Amino acid sequence: MAGTIFILNGPNLNLLGQREVDVYGATTLAEIEAACRDAAAGLGFEIDFRQTNQEGELVTWIQEAREKAVGLVINAAAYTHSSYAIPDALATFEGTKVEVHLSNIFKREEFRHHSTLSNQVDGVICGLGPQGYVLAIEAIAEIANS
Ligand code: DQA
Repeated sequence: MAGTIFILNGPNLNLLGQREVDVYGATTLAEIEAACRDAAAGLGFEIDFRQTNQEGELVTWIQEAREKAVGLVINAAAYTHSSYAIPDALATFEGTKVEVHLSNIFKREEFRHHSTLSNQVDGVICGLGPQGYVLAIEAIAEIANS
């Protein structure tokens, strides 16, 4: 295996498939995890896929990624728009970092247009649904192999 990619999910994403299906789609988080695992395995990477409703837990996991991961995919959900601790933690992670959102946050309410994370990541993917996670893994793999 070429390394581990941490995939970290924030609050309410455990409810995917039941939550605002018109906005986030019918795919569950377990189905996204399975798609990520398949995509990563095909590229020779392992994933560590997690979800939490706690901001501090995301910070702790980003710190853990410093020791264990070559890359990190993060959908911080609503903390994207309010957190200062998460971007501070991301600044300490030296691998490739990609911010993902299922929905196109720029087509939505004004408060979602700003992400406190975006200036601490290598790339941002939004609006492509679950496919965004797979594209993020592919990008991390390509950068890690280059
Ligand atoms: C989200 C977008 C956020 O604005 C929202 O708070 C979420 C999910 C997305 O994946 O589209 O919970 O990160």
